[in-house]
Amino acid sequence: MITIISGTNRKNSNSLKVSKTCDKILQEQGADSQICCLTELPDNFFSLIYEKDSPGYSQMIDTYITKADRLVFVLPEYQGSYPGVLKAFLDSIDPKLIAEKKACLIGVASGRGGGIRPQSHFTDVLHHLKVEVFSSQPKLSGIDRLVDDVFLQDPSAIDQLKTHFLKFSQF
Ligand SMILES: Cc1cc2nc3c(=O)[nH]c(=O)nc-3n(C[C@H](O)[C@H](O)[C@H](O)COP(=O)(O)O)c2cc1C
Repeated sequence: MITIISGTNRKNSNSLKVSKTCDKILQEQGADSQICCLTELPDNFFSLIYEKDSPGYSQMIDTYITKADRLVFVLPEYQGSYPGVLKAFLDSIDPKLIAEKKACLIGVASGRGGGIRPQSHFTDVLHHLKVEVFSSQPKLSGIDRLVDDVFLQDPSAIDQLKTHFLKFSQF
């Protein structure tokens, strides 16, 4: 199972549109995939972040992290890095549950960098957690021009992701 983690809890985020497109591509390529959107985190997430057995929340970790062998992180660029809620989500996961998994990072940004900084910062954190991070890291810059209300629509960005996921399946 591949879990695609949409790395923000912002409503109507472009990251979720990109995540839905990744899900579609992976399923067309024959993979089992699912989306974990951080908008699903409980309202009191920040008060129960270090309590591993919180009802509802532990099930989310089990479904999206424990049961996945690969992780796709869709990383929006916020203030020159990845969103704080994604770091908090990671902080709430027992490191043993995520170590040894394979991950890839898709950068999303309004600006020209396409998320190169969040990718770099997040790679450091994942390596600390002993997650294997794929070197191919697509960068979707000027994201507002590449999406409609639901999905990524730009043909060349979609082709780039198709090629990326074929290579990721060999990683
Ligand atoms: C709090 C916040 C900070 C942001 N900081 C940056 C930034 O530093 N560089 C940039 O290119 N875009 C920045 N953006 C724009 C996002 O890259 C843009 O909203 C993009 O669509 C990805 O975020 P989304 O998934 O929330 O839509 C920021 C957006 C928010 C909400």
